[in-house]
Amino acid sequence: IISAQVIMKPHCVLGLATGSSPIGTYKQLIEWYNKGDLDFARVMSINLDEYKGLSPENPQSYRYFMNTHLFHKININHANTYVPNGTEPDAEKACQAYNELLHKIGPADIQILGLGHDGHIGFNEPGTSFDSVTHMIELKESTRQDNARLFFDGKIDEVPTHAITMGISNILQAKKVLLVACGENKAQPIKVLVEGEKTTDVPASALQDHNDVVVIVDKAAASLLTK
Ligand code: F6R
Repeated sequence: IISAQVIMKPHCVLGLATGSSPIGTYKQLIEWYNKGDLDFARVMSINLDEYKGLSPENPQSYRYFMNTHLFHKININHANTYVPNGTEPDAEKACQAYNELLHKIGPADIQILGLGHDGHIGFNEPGTSFDSVTHMIELKESTRQDNARLFFDGKIDEVPTHAITMGISNILQAKKVLLVACGENKAQPIKVLVEGEKTTDVPASALQDHNDVVVIVDKAAASLLTK
């Protein structure tokens, strides 16, 4: 789906995510780029989120993740890749700047999403308003624990307590949404997203209001679906 988008619209805007879910996707895109099938020269990208306080050079930052897992391995113009600014001391200013950027270059043609086991998308934790735009958020202990596993050698104390994230309404602006979820701990939010009631307790359920969402799951993540 993503490669078709890049081929059909070489100047497309990709909304990108970090975390374990899209790593295989990025590997596949790099492989096709190396084969000469994809050209990212005119593509722009906007990422969902960034930890507050982490610089782009910090290996735990989401900017660093994107550079190493995708941007440095394809011919995207680095100046056209955007991640919220985690080091701006005035978080309000950083959020406003990102919202302005999204208005200027967005909406994304495709937004890639992972899914938190508590139903979060981006870093929009349960309870976040569906009308939210880019904002700073305090991370739940369980989210910090999950992310410690991936990024911080399991040390939760090193995981920042706050992050800047696109809001749910920013995410809903994307023309198409592609959500990837694997594993048993995603089964409950997948059930609510696909078959349940829309509720701010499960932020991903906001996607029910979007008219073009593709949800890709493995058997474990699909295990609670009944219909
Ligand atoms: C990452 C992001 C998060 C993750 C989610 C799932 O940019 O916004 O919402 O997509 O926490 O993470 P993984 O894929 O590691 O299970």
